[in-house]
Amino acid sequence: MIELKNVYKSFGDKNVLNGVNLTINKGETLVIIGKSGCGKSVMLKHIIGLMKPDKGEVIIEGQNIVNLSRKEVYTVRKKFGFLFQGAALFDSMSVEENVGLGLRENRRLKDKEISRIVAEKLELVGLPGIQNMSPSDLSGGMKKRVSLARAIADEPEYILYDEPTTGLDPVMSDNIDELIRDLADKLKVTSIIVTHDIFSVIEVAQRVVMMEGGVVYFSGTPKELFDSDDTKITEFLRRTNKTRNNN
Ligand SMILES: Nc1ncnc2c1ncn2[C@@H]1O[C@H](COP(=O)(O)OP(=O)(O)OP(=O)(O)O)[C@@H](O)[C@H]1O
Ligand SMILES: [Mg+2]
Repeated sequence: MIELKNVYKSFGDKNVLNGVNLTINKGETLVIIGKSGCGKSVMLKHIIGLMKPDKGEVIIEGQNIVNLSRKEVYTVRKKFGFLFQGAALFDSMSVEENVGLGLRENRRLKDKEISRIVAEKLELVGLPGIQNMSPSDLSGGMKKRVSLARAIADEPEYILYDEPTTGLDPVMSDNIDELIRDLADKLKVTSIIVTHDIFSVIEVAQRVVMMEGGVVYFSGTPKELFDSDDTKITEFLRRTNKTRNNN
């Protein structure tokens, strides 16, 4: 279980998180929505200890990680796979090395075993056989899927996806949504997905959280979200793309 308790975060005089309270249950598939710049990515970074709150607690399986040492946070972080917004791949390494990075660092597996897992994950994201390519030769959508392969390579208990379908074509977006659902169903992973893609909300969310004004403004099922007559929610939904991937 993941719990954010009264989490505050400012950058200079800009208050981004203003007392966030959120519990994410084990095995749950949670989608986070909200306006651009409202603090969704910042919140994800708090969950994996890449950012520390000014105030409040971030509790991962009963342990408050806020005051842990860097090494202790690193241990907790091994439970997580994360797909960063904008696919951060290392251009100096091959696709194989990028996808196998965590496996090599965390698990000290034999090269052959790493190659086997990398091949399997690339197949899963629809990119079999591109191990020897350089990230700089891939399209944006391919980079995103390679990052996804890396995020799931070590079979994490929790996967954080920051805009997994942005920039992908509709078919590939469907595939990614299906992959997210599959991982949740088959491997029982806990999934947290930040998205601007309302289709992903419909396709994958068990629960949706809308961030607004630095707090969790809404939490409920997709149906409750779409049925809401709260002005901030209806306004947000009205402005969100209704067709898959014009974003
Ligand atoms: N390291 C940082 N230093 C200063 N300001 C930051 C930093 N990280 C984030 N911010 C600011 O915090 C605010 C929230 O950023 P965040 O990236 O979480 O938004 P977001 O909800 O993910 O938006 P988007 O949907 O566009 O990705 C923004 O105003 C951003 O400029
Ligand atoms: Mg973001």
